[in-house]
Amino acid sequence: RILILDFGSQYTQLIARRVREAGVYCEIMPCDVDGEAISGFAPRGVILSGSPESVNERDTPRIPDAVLAANVPVLGICYGMQALAAQLGGQVAAAAHREYGYARVRTVGHSPLLADLSDGGEGEAVLDVWMSHGDRVEACPTGFLAIAETDNAPYAAIADEARRYYGLQFHPEVTHTRQGQRIIERFVHGICGCQRAWTERAIIDGILADIRAQVGDEEVVLALSGGVDSSVVAVLLHQAIGDRLTCVFVDNGLLRLHEGDQVMATFADHLGVRVIRVNAAARFLGALKGVDDPERKRKIIGETFITVFEEEAARLARVRWLAQGTIYPDVIESAGAKGGKARVIKSHHNVGGLPERMKLKLLEPLRLLFKDEVRRIGLSLGLPEAMIHRHPFPGPGLGVRILGAVEERYADILRQADAIFIEELRRAGYYDKVSQAFAVFLPVRSVGVVGDGRAYEHVIALRAVETVDFMTANWAELPYALLGRVSSRIINEVRGVSRVVYDVSGKPPATIEWE
Ligand code: XMP
Repeated sequence: RILILDFGSQYTQLIARRVREAGVYCEIMPCDVDGEAISGFAPRGVILSGSPESVNERDTPRIPDAVLAANVPVLGICYGMQALAAQLGGQVAAAAHREYGYARVRTVGHSPLLADLSDGGEGEAVLDVWMSHGDRVEACPTGFLAIAETDNAPYAAIADEARRYYGLQFHPEVTHTRQGQRIIERFVHGICGCQRAWTERAIIDGILADIRAQVGDEEVVLALSGGVDSSVVAVLLHQAIGDRLTCVFVDNGLLRLHEGDQVMATFADHLGVRVIRVNAAARFLGALKGVDDPERKRKIIGETFITVFEEEAARLARVRWLAQGTIYPDVIESAGAKGGKARVIKSHHNVGGLPERMKLKLLEPLRLLFKDEVRRIGLSLGLPEAMIHRHPFPGPGLGVRILGAVEERYADILRQADAIFIEELRRAGYYDKVSQAFAVFLPVRSVGVVGDGRAYEHVIALRAVETVDFMTANWAELPYALLGRVSSRIINEVRGVSRVVYDVSGKPPATIEWE
């Protein structure tokens, strides 16, 4: 296992994903973690992340002594390398030119980290890398040699082979560094001696054993939404404890076409999981009646969900555990958010606070996994591909895709329009090319001609975006012919719609959802 110390780089999670892709388990800890946590984790190697700080400023983060005392290989990336150099007696200074973006470095010497890797032609020792730094190492500490250089920096990478300390001025974790994954693999496999043991089978077996050890012979309840995370949790728990798992699936009337039936078919019929389906559409729609403020709608949907779920769970007298699909980025972010960095732009629907209220113990089997790992184990657990690769769907569902006050007939129209859009996207091979796509119901009416008559009906907006992290997004350039087919099918097949428009707004400033 590898320890990643986070000095505040935006890329820290990427480092962890690269290490996991190399089949090696790793965890991220803040750079000021105490020495006991480090020795308790017993890493075979440590990676120090980058940081927006400068080692020459006062009070900037330092490498904990426990890392340097651990006698394991250390790889410092960007700030991590500068901190390593500065703390071991070298010199770091502001570079004359900041370097940001692509760069070419020449490798020198025969370090096991970089030797024989090349993006150049035959016999050339050059790497295409991604740089993002203002400071640079001016003088190496004793014992270190340069293992790569650029015209701008004599020490683009350094190594002390005796102590197995390495520093990279560039970022191997970003895909722009073409040999980045191989460099990380060389560090974790070759230099640290870690095996490729973090496989789907090992992850699943570990989680099943943990669940059994934690839960013993007690019972567990899970709010199943049909999304990837709660679905994978359901299957894992079912395998671990069988009938001592009860899932509660709340149909709030704001789901996509046939969604409730599909969830029941997959889990109850096919996998034999015990699922209670609660048809609570009337309750949700009643609570939402006449409410048009987006944040209030979200709140009502969230609170109604909690009430309905609690009522169901209260009937399950023997339940002691509440399972949730929390994943590793949530855990890291809520740890980081203690400093107050997290900003709430939209109050996201979740069941936070439920376990305390319900006096249940919390079970989070996915809390150490990244989303791509959840997907991979979901597939190897036999969940359908279409469920695993489904676009994200917000907790408040169609409630935030019907602008203004929600009405049942609007939800029915939207469900049909959305299903047509998704069906055509899949048929044209575009579903997997975009990150998220959906229809939005606009409660305004526009004039049209349908057959011989004049129509005065509602408007559907189509939204499709491409994004990596959902924090920023581009609208997808779907072919006109595809948009045309979707539009004419919606207008012909869905009563109550006479106009279809396509949303061409990027995020920022527009959000992905319309509310
Ligand atoms: P926005 O609209 O903020 O969306 O650009 C970013 C991503 O988050 C999803 N989203 C939500 N998910 N509850 C959720 O569980 C919510 O209230 C919510 N609002 C937005 C959205 O679908 C997109 O993937």
